[in-house]
Amino acid sequence: MAEKILEIRNLTAGFLSDKGLAKATDRVHLELEKGKTLCVVGESGSGKSVTALSIMRLLDYAGGVIADGEVLFNGQNLVSKQQKEMLKIRGNQITMIFQDPMSALNPVFTVGEQIAETLRIHKNLPEKEAWRQSVDMLRKVKIPDPEIRAKQYPYEMSGGMCQRVVIAMALACNPELLIADEPTTALDVTVQAQILELLLQLKREFRMSMLLITHDMGVAAEVADRIAVMYAGAVVEEGTVAEIFERPRHPYTIGLLQSIPGLEGDRGGELYTIKGTIPKIDQIPTGCRFHPRCPYAMDICRQNEPPLRESNTGHKAACWLDDTGEDDPRPGKPNTRETKVTIMSRPEVAQS
Ligand SMILES: Nc1ncnc2c1ncn2[C@@H]1O[C@H](COP(=O)(O)OP(=O)(O)OP(=O)(O)O)[C@@H](O)[C@H]1O
Ligand SMILES: [Mg+2]
Repeated sequence: MAEKILEIRNLTAGFLSDKGLAKATDRVHLELEKGKTLCVVGESGSGKSVTALSIMRLLDYAGGVIADGEVLFNGQNLVSKQQKEMLKIRGNQITMIFQDPMSALNPVFTVGEQIAETLRIHKNLPEKEAWRQSVDMLRKVKIPDPEIRAKQYPYEMSGGMCQRVVIAMALACNPELLIADEPTTALDVTVQAQILELLLQLKREFRMSMLLITHDMGVAAEVADRIAVMYAGAVVEEGTVAEIFERPRHPYTIGLLQSIPGLEGDRGGELYTIKGTIPKIDQIPTGCRFHPRCPYAMDICRQNEPPLRESNTGHKAACWLDDTGEDDPRPGKPNTRETKVTIMSRPEVAQS
């Protein structure tokens, strides 16, 4: 079996209020194999960033708490680590890049100084060598004239350039795992593609594993080995890119796919949108958390939460309509794929 660099088990994390814990993630389970890319997708508010911050043990600093579960990084549970120990892991073995490059950079130091500082702290390099490697990193992220650029301040650079600097800083210490939380969302569309391409190339070059958070299914299709779909704090589907795109099982995933311009849902220029809005974390509905927005909701969906069931190929989905039949034609069990596809493509039948 392939080695796992990251395994999140039953992660429940959230924010305390007068009414108790509002769960931003509810028993989340995710796995990432060494050298692979896992994309976590889902609408705004689905708990993607809380998951990432929990892995990094930065959630405390954002006012949240990890209430339960484990985050196994190379087999060691990060949840039980002291913050002092996490300081050695963060920035060294695991690094994270965020949506807004400007917030990650210090405006009063040159970009070269900032990368060199990371190298001095984590690799204990002398000043001159840290500067040399800092310029080298700027070259690796394809910043032209790196010797000159290293002496510039963040405000002298474009958003795309700044994100390249942030990537250089994140990779300077050769981390095993890179967590990228919407790394291209704040950038222009053309720059987005370049940054993604760069990330992929560097991931191969540095032999890293990557957890990429995005709300863009198109990005996930291009970059991921596996995709986990989160909705209102829970993983509702997980599988390979082919499984998610060609054999989606959860109505929420199907809705997300139909919302991509140019795919099935793009009927004559009118883009499909999933009706309704994601619930607030202190108002998660009973039963299936997606049922109020699901065109196929049945009685059982309103009452009982569907378990995340796994097929024999490892494709997981949490939906009462789904019986894992399509990948798993178990003896004596009818393959319900035909039925489901019919239901999925004719919501008016299910609603009546
Ligand atoms: N500091 C906080 N206090 C209370 N609730 C919070 C806080 N931070 C986040 N939340 C709530 O936790 C839930 C999950 O937030 P999270 O930031 O993980 O979502 P996300 O999937 O990353 O969304 P986005 O795509 O907008 O980045 C949201 O409902 C959000 O409102
Ligand atoms: Mg987020």
